[in-house]
Amino acid sequence: MASIEFKNVTKSFGDSTVIKDLDLTIEDGKFTVLVGPSGCGKTTLLRMIAGLDPQTSGAVLIGGKDMSQVPPGQRGVALVFQNYALYPTMSVRENIEFALKNNKVSKEERSKLVESISATVGLSEYLERKPSTLSGGQRQRVALARAMVKKPSVFLMDEPLSNLDAKLRVHMRIELIELHKKLGSTFVYVTHDQVEAMSMADTIVLMNNGEIQQEASPERIYHEPNNLFTAQFVGVPPMNTAPLGNDGISFGFRPEAAVLTRSGTDAWFQFKGVIMTREMLGSETIYQVKGKRYTFMIKCYEDLFKVDEPVYVGVEAEHLSFFGTDEKRIEKSVSGYQEYLDLLRSQGDE
Ligand SMILES: Nc1ncnc2c1ncn2[C@@H]1O[C@H](COP(=O)(O)OP(=O)(O)OP(=O)(O)O)[C@@H](O)[C@H]1O
Ligand SMILES: [Mg+2]
Repeated sequence: MASIEFKNVTKSFGDSTVIKDLDLTIEDGKFTVLVGPSGCGKTTLLRMIAGLDPQTSGAVLIGGKDMSQVPPGQRGVALVFQNYALYPTMSVRENIEFALKNNKVSKEERSKLVESISATVGLSEYLERKPSTLSGGQRQRVALARAMVKKPSVFLMDEPLSNLDAKLRVHMRIELIELHKKLGSTFVYVTHDQVEAMSMADTIVLMNNGEIQQEASPERIYHEPNNLFTAQFVGVPPMNTAPLGNDGISFGFRPEAAVLTRSGTDAWFQFKGVIMTREMLGSETIYQVKGKRYTFMIKCYEDLFKVDEPVYVGVEAEHLSFFGTDEKRIEKSVSGYQEYLDLLRSQGDE
């Protein structure tokens, strides 16, 4: 097992700098998810850990040891990619034991390892089959087993589930969480899907443009986003936000934090609007409500309203967030917070 540290790491390709002065510690034994929009530098970070594409400056440490002079094969890391190319002519067993054969592990030892690992990932009955006869999820498990057989202290996974259909993806998510529990090794998992990140991570590292926006537990990221970017990246739909007056301050609230009523309530912030769209998703319904100033998405657990129906949107003070001109979230303890609350209250109910 091993922690991973980035110390003042910069990565450039030619004269374009993708990551600048990055400091990050990924804890030993945790399931850490790197998440962020396409092109933000997630794969670049993973490749630096693996040693496939070393940093331009700064240091990457694994288990406290500087990896600058350590080649990829000796870092104790295993990679699982989105396109986990299995050898098509080899059986599942041969695919899994390939690396062991190369490392001259004895036949007896090999088959012991393959049996135990394929049992862990639920592949025991498929060992003699060819990859082409397996489902996507089963192939995914072969790729995992192939990585596990090397007994890595660090697992690096780059969007490993993105080729699977939605149902299988949810299933594999749970399998990966269980696998992590069983192995207890450090998992670093890359995705651009925030739902995947929220559901699997001990710690989320949310990136944008090569910079870390926030590093925290899923709960914290959701309820205490550092800034507007985080607030709007996480959640389905994301946080509703809008300018508060004209001085660059904005406010926001989560779609499920609002209450819709026909006759209004005494909520702190309230405005009158009309239901523009309605999406019934089974256990919840998402309404788009348009008022004079605002259009927001509201999530309800009861499906009580119709399109074109007039409604009141009410949000209590404790569910409101405010963001400064620097787009950072303003803490409730900051003096002047009450003034933001009062200003917003005065803008409601039109
Ligand atoms: N070999 C390379 N040469 C030049 N630029 C590169 C190279 N590899 C990556 N980049 C650039 O670095 C930036 C980060 O790329 P990276 O692949 O890390 O993004 P990502 O977060 O993994 O995105 P995605 O979610 O689309 O996989 C991108 O702007 C990309 O164009
Ligand atoms: Mg990538």
